[in-house]
Amino acid sequence: MPSSLPPHPHAMHLSLSQAAAQILAGHIVAFPTETVYGIGANAFDAEAVRKIYTLKGRPSSNPLIIHIRNKNDLGKVVSTVDPISQKLIDAFWPGPLTLILPKHPNVPEITTAGLSTVAVRMPAHPLAQALLNETDVPIAAPSANPSGKPSATHHKHVEAYFGNELPVIAGGETNVGIESTVVMVRDNVPHVLRLGSISEQNIKNATGITPVLETSSKHSPGTTLRHYAPHTPLILVAPEKLTDALAEHTGKRIGFLALDAHTPPSTPNTYIFSLGPSETTAAQRLYAGLFALDHQNLDLIIGVTFPHDGLGKALNDRLTRAATQH
Ligand code: TXA
Ligand code: MG
Repeated sequence: MPSSLPPHPHAMHLSLSQAAAQILAGHIVAFPTETVYGIGANAFDAEAVRKIYTLKGRPSSNPLIIHIRNKNDLGKVVSTVDPISQKLIDAFWPGPLTLILPKHPNVPEITTAGLSTVAVRMPAHPLAQALLNETDVPIAAPSANPSGKPSATHHKHVEAYFGNELPVIAGGETNVGIESTVVMVRDNVPHVLRLGSISEQNIKNATGITPVLETSSKHSPGTTLRHYAPHTPLILVAPEKLTDALAEHTGKRIGFLALDAHTPPSTPNTYIFSLGPSETTAAQRLYAGLFALDHQNLDLIIGVTFPHDGLGKALNDRLTRAATQH
């Protein structure tokens, strides 16, 4: 099945300088990061940030991540940095790691949903860095999807979701494919609020401390919400249970989202979206797969689960949230 989508009739593509001008004029634009596309606004402009919440239909209780151009700009958005967070910054920035730190008083309340902390990261994608350099303001940006839907890993996903309501810097496919790892250090211990491509082991290696996994708690407002969910029912099946699951659902039109090694034999009723040979390719293609299968009028999507370790654990987390019916 092709993963590409047709061009959207109302898409609005912006050059870098046009996008920077839009941000400085108080508007919102979508742009690629190495993880997923974001919807960006000047983080210090409360009215601009409000437009993000409105467009996404995002609850005002769910704070945004501020993206900064370099480590020197951290002092514009946070009031202090503890030594363990500093180690994580030194190890992983620029890159897919978000840190929760005490907020600088200049950051408007709407950006942090009224919390005294702020989420910050320095993205590694060249277009994200260029946009931050050209605007010279920190950019608040959540993932570029309507609240609850799979994140966008290609500008065509952004266009399909928002059409001419959201201009986009067209940067093609993103590299990592799942959202950044979110870490909050409390009492000198790193707490992982969201798993991403930077693993618990990576964090332990950088700090010498085993992190606490805390992906559903009062400290991580976004994780209690329904997420990444396609319209089509999605169930998760371990590779060794695939034959049983197929028998149970005979006669249905089923889409499979699986690593090549775990792909069932194809039949006229099956639609296979290959996640490729490894967890790395699976992360890159996961949302494109959910997106593509959701547009095939299927009865069911089966996500085949991953070995529960490293990136596989982050992928299982996304699949589980996408499959949860609230
Ligand atoms: O990779 C990413 O992080 C992407 C790209 C665009 O940078 N952004 C992203 O943003 O995934 P979003 O808004 O979809 O997810 C941000 C997560 C949410 O779970 C939110 O609750 C959490 O970060 N968050 C933000 N501020 C927080 C804070 N002060 N304390 C705890 N969690 C926070
Ligand atoms: Mg999101």
